[in-house]
Amino acid sequence: MNKTILDCRTFQDYLEIIDNMYRLGWDERNGGNISVLLDQPDVDEYLCGGKNVIREIPLPLEVDPILVGKVFAITGTGRYFRNTKKHPEENTGVIRIKEDRKTAELLWGFSTGGKFTSEIFAHMMCHATRLKVNPKNHVIMHCHPQNILTYSSIHDLDEESFTKDLWRTMTEEVIVFPEGIGVLPWELCGTNKIGVDTAEKMKEYRCVIWTLHGIYGAGDDLDEAFGLIETVEKACMLYLMALPFEKKQVITDENLKEIAEGFHITPKAGYLK
Ligand code: 13P
Ligand code: ZN
Repeated sequence: MNKTILDCRTFQDYLEIIDNMYRLGWDERNGGNISVLLDQPDVDEYLCGGKNVIREIPLPLEVDPILVGKVFAITGTGRYFRNTKKHPEENTGVIRIKEDRKTAELLWGFSTGGKFTSEIFAHMMCHATRLKVNPKNHVIMHCHPQNILTYSSIHDLDEESFTKDLWRTMTEEVIVFPEGIGVLPWELCGTNKIGVDTAEKMKEYRCVIWTLHGIYGAGDDLDEAFGLIETVEKACMLYLMALPFEKKQVITDENLKEIAEGFHITPKAGYLK
């Protein structure tokens, strides 16, 4: 029996993470989308080397040349994370970017006729940007975590205070995102513009907030992107939990400098006074 993408460890982890994200409440209905760059050995072993193109789907943008020939597992537009582990072939697809940079070749999935997420702009632009910053980047993950959304509704949006108030909620926050967090003010989703703006932030940050919408996280693998988002989400939750109370203990800039020294990380320049 020929192996399929469902036998691929990365793809199995992908379905598991999608399921977890649904149960964490981050992906109501069709909320959220994830794309994972697949390595050539996986394409060879589980997708017949990419020989079988099921159909072509026009892309609504001309992607960066760095993405030509790249193969991505990607969630479908309008599809529910809740159903994805049970029916992966309907709810996700595997696409390859064609040489013309304007076409996706469907290698597997979207079996009921669907197509990739409406946030394809942001996904393709962020992959291109991150690959130029870090050739090991594989994952772009978007979701709607409860506390991140609430934090973005009550907090100032300047990136320094937005980041530092999260670093101060728990000792190990600054270790996970020392470069800080990029923040976009509210914008219409699913557009070329929000894709460009998010990718611009991703030159500097692995994590970008869409105010009153959600978060984008990037990572070398699924664990890194998921771990980044869950850590930011927890910080937002801790901030909101403590908000009504007088604070008797706080993490100071001095403490943050000590953590940075102890864990050999470099917090964003200028943030610690
Ligand atoms: P899709 O169903 O098109 O992936 O859209 C979900 C979403 O979260 C839009 O930002
Ligand atoms: Zn969304």
